[in-house]
Amino acid sequence: MKKFSIVIAGGGSTYTPGIVMTLLNHLDKFPIRQLKFYDNDGERQKVIADACEVIIREKAPEIKFLATTDPEQGFTDVDFVMAQIRVGKYAMRDKDEKIPLKYGVIGQETCGPGGIAYGLRSIGGVLEILDYMEKYSPNAWMLNYSNPASIVAEATRRLRPNSKILNICDMPVGIQERMAAIVGLKQYNDLEVRYFGLNHFGWWTAIRDKQGNDLMPKLREYVSQHGYLLSDKEEVSTQPSWKATFGMAQNTFALDPERFPNTYLQYYLYTKYEADHMNPDYTRTDEVRDGREKFVFSECRRIAANQSIEGLKFTPDEHSNYIVDLSRAIAYNTHERMLVIIENDGAVSNFEPAAMVEVPCIVGSNGPERLAMGKIPRFQKGFLEQQVAVEKLAVDAWVEHSYLKLWQALTLSHTVPDANVAKKILDDLIVANKEFWPELKKDKKEAEAELSLS
Ligand code: NAD
Ligand code: G6P
Ligand code: MN
Repeated sequence: MKKFSIVIAGGGSTYTPGIVMTLLNHLDKFPIRQLKFYDNDGERQKVIADACEVIIREKAPEIKFLATTDPEQGFTDVDFVMAQIRVGKYAMRDKDEKIPLKYGVIGQETCGPGGIAYGLRSIGGVLEILDYMEKYSPNAWMLNYSNPASIVAEATRRLRPNSKILNICDMPVGIQERMAAIVGLKQYNDLEVRYFGLNHFGWWTAIRDKQGNDLMPKLREYVSQHGYLLSDKEEVSTQPSWKATFGMAQNTFALDPERFPNTYLQYYLYTKYEADHMNPDYTRTDEVRDGREKFVFSECRRIAANQSIEGLKFTPDEHSNYIVDLSRAIAYNTHERMLVIIENDGAVSNFEPAAMVEVPCIVGSNGPERLAMGKIPRFQKGFLEQQVAVEKLAVDAWVEHSYLKLWQALTLSHTVPDANVAKKILDDLIVANKEFWPELKKDKKEAEAELSLS
């Protein structure tokens, strides 16, 4: 049986130990000969790597392990790149969230102005690691979680059309885990679903069990009363902001009680409510730093100091399970049905063919094949047209170094009240992102001149 070689790009990510745990738990179904971490912040990565080295040594000493900041070392001889980089790290996520809130606008990692700002940082970072992969392991696949997935996907579609990159999201998986619990099933892939939308902007239109039974009536009854919130007992370890998010699904579901909403629609459908309820001095980044980041890094330090996995607290989760399931589908040509972000090209028949949509695909060793989701209703179509334009304008702005396109993108975002507010936020974001964004030109001619010189 072939044994695989994997590199986790963004080895210093808080999600890395979870992926390692899933990989180690699945060695019988997905054998590994080599696992590498790559990150451009060696210090951050080292904390995670020192612990993972101990975990691997104790659980599967036959696996060769290496952590590096050298692209050649990291990307040579790999079958899969599991990418999860955060360009600018939490320090910049903090600004993405807090700058818009200064103007009463949603401050969010992937939605609204914050998501657009993050997009303009991520495009270059993801292209860089994709190019490393193609240079050092041209046959490898990149499974990419790096956000904002929709803007990154549009950029890679346009700028690296032939690359073997699959952009993915764990939110539908997380919601499906909840749906499965509601109907008494075990896990996300016990459900067979139909789904359409953009990343963090989609709806389920059919949910069945593996025998083909319709689960929608039971789910409708439940979600109309509780959203995706489970019982108190099942939610004991859920953070308050995530609880609020799962509860809000009751309200987003009310807008179309036929279809089940992705939780991120709360920011677009209840924009004012959400913005009004965010604390501009303590946003989600603060929660993540005080919660997940602290937990992961302190647990890693403990394991490395003890040189033992006694009392190990890391466990596989839906995020890590999904990326490993997807790798297996490619590795073994399983033709499993999975949600990925892919060029529409008819999957949603009444929607722009060149949009990057999130739809179920059949995944095998040649990648994903989209399933036809048919026509979508006017409410969703109108909303999706607006959002896809925002994402395409953001990529235009990055490619053309265009201030105007980015101003248009922010103005068109449903989260922003008008062009005036958009401009104020944009001007603040430009200053904050100086190190990461291309220098934007206000004059289109000037930008063209610069492009023709580069
Ligand atoms: P994190 O900051 O803990 O980890 C990101 C790592 O990426 C850091 O160690 C950083 O040094 C590294 N990095 C930044 N720029 C890099 C570059 N150019 N090259 C190599 N490494 C680089 O962040 P996190 O909270 O663990 O999240 C990691 C990423 O995964 C984020 O992009 C996040 O949005 C994404 N994510 C996506 C999904 C999804 O549904 N698509 C789910 C969860 C997390
Ligand atoms: C979900 C989404 C990701 C997003 C994450 C944020 O998993 O699918 O795209 O990055 O939530 O979670 P956080 O805990 O970092 O706020
Ligand atoms: Mn996501």
